[in-house]
Amino acid sequence: MTQRILVLNGPNLNLLGTRQPEVYGSVTLEMVEQSCVAHGKTLGLDVSCLQSNHEGALIDAIHAAKGVHQGIVLNAGAYTHTSIALMDALISVEIPTVEVHLSNIHARESFRHVSFISKAAVGQICGFGAHGYILALEALVQHLKEA
Ligand code: DQA
Repeated sequence: MTQRILVLNGPNLNLLGTRQPEVYGSVTLEMVEQSCVAHGKTLGLDVSCLQSNHEGALIDAIHAAKGVHQGIVLNAGAYTHTSIALMDALISVEIPTVEVHLSNIHARESFRHVSFISKAAVGQICGFGAHGYILALEALVQHLKEA
């Protein structure tokens, strides 16, 4: 059966490509999403993508994923470091989630070292730029196989 995966991006990630390219790279969100869909196909996944700058919209998307998506790849942007509500949403729906960050959040400011998402995620991939999303899809496939 084809597994459906949601690639969910949070605040300011719509600006990828132009936003601090020295930190986040020059790849746009559209390119990231296209490569997730294309690479997902090679892994037998049906990937859909969503980005929002709004915490409530991200929570709604996580709720709506229940019964529809078998896995989530989530870059929650700055909400990673603040949002107990996003963490609770992930725990509530019980959908295996891989957390992604383009930058190595552990090598940056100390406020970025804390992740509420990690408490609800299978694991975290950070520091590999846009390739992290591909690594996350591969990790998710393996995790779902083992589950
Ligand atoms: C980010 C890291 C966060 O600290 C930051 O707020 C972002 C992007 C990343 O992908 O490296 O918006 O999640």
